[in-house]
Amino acid sequence: MKIAILPGDGIGPEIVEQAVKVLKALDLQLEMETAPVGGAAYEASGHPLPDATLNLSRAADAILFGAVGDWKYDQLERALRPEQAILGLRKALGLFANFRPAICYEQLTHASSLKPELVAGLDILIIRELTGDIYFGQPRGRRSAPDGAFAGAEEAFDTMRYARPEIERIAHVAFQAARQRSKRVTSVDKANVLETFQFWKDVVAEVHKDYPDVELSHMYVDNAAMQLVKAPKAFDVIVTGNMFGDILSDEASMLTGSIGMLPSASLNAQRQGLYEPSHGSAPDIAGKGVANPLATILSAAMMLRFSLNQPEAADRIEAAVKQVLAQGLRTPDIHSEGTTRVGTAQMGDAVVNALR
Ligand code: IPM
Ligand code: MG
Repeated sequence: MKIAILPGDGIGPEIVEQAVKVLKALDLQLEMETAPVGGAAYEASGHPLPDATLNLSRAADAILFGAVGDWKYDQLERALRPEQAILGLRKALGLFANFRPAICYEQLTHASSLKPELVAGLDILIIRELTGDIYFGQPRGRRSAPDGAFAGAEEAFDTMRYARPEIERIAHVAFQAARQRSKRVTSVDKANVLETFQFWKDVVAEVHKDYPDVELSHMYVDNAAMQLVKAPKAFDVIVTGNMFGDILSDEASMLTGSIGMLPSASLNAQRQGLYEPSHGSAPDIAGKGVANPLATILSAAMMLRFSLNQPEAADRIEAAVKQVLAQGLRTPDIHSEGTTRVGTAQMGDAVVNALR
């Protein structure tokens, strides 16, 4: 089993180091190879996703990804910015199915900005379509407005689009995931305004006919944003497009108290996957040894479960994370009175010890 390790920028290297430590402690036959990505790769070779990194990723069974981005690259042309590395990997490997669980750990209930009773026991799964929608739709660009009230003025435009097979395959992923859980799917759209999302809604409803045992409801995205803070536990699986999924998954992550706890998986049809924490590169705290490595460690667990067919090893990592939380160990982002403040490496070491 071959894993490409792509640490990236900001806190990426320090959190990935902890996850690698945890993987090594499992004594599995894992071959790991590291390559630069994002701003780090741009500095080294002039491109955020060099061919060598892309080829390594293609050849691997799974990719463990840290984070990319730094404000210092904001002035670069779009094609050279660090974010293009993650978008490029998603597109090149066809990683269309993005799993973003939002789980509120018992010990962290009070870290949420919502009332504890609203989030205690929260366990929802956002499934975001990741290779279509307005993120990748062509044409896009800047031009002189061809018509309308502002004809002749400079304008910018993007294209929102989804093809039927793209919607069908993500709908199947969502219904199948729901079967492993409480069998409820909420499809989030904006069918009241957008043609693309009326189509989305129709196609999801058609695919649903294959899953009579799963309950499907439809919700407009604005209402979904509201319901997520009003009664988040009413959801089980949420399936939505790339853009809405980007926004709702950040919202859902904060319900759990810390984005520093949330893993994610992005899979293609062959179950090859890219695993990364849901949070970003946090350049403001990079190199200080205070970043929470648990989201990356939990992403490694998802990798073992989804791409490497090692569910027992995944269970062991998840149990070890619960154990260190129960021991009261907390990085600053989840620290509260009466718990023990630890740094990035100490947290990684504690998980390794809990595995043993
Ligand atoms: C995410 C991020 C990315 C996205 C950025 C970094 C391109 O926000 O993974 O949610 O918008 O998809
Ligand atoms: Mg995002």
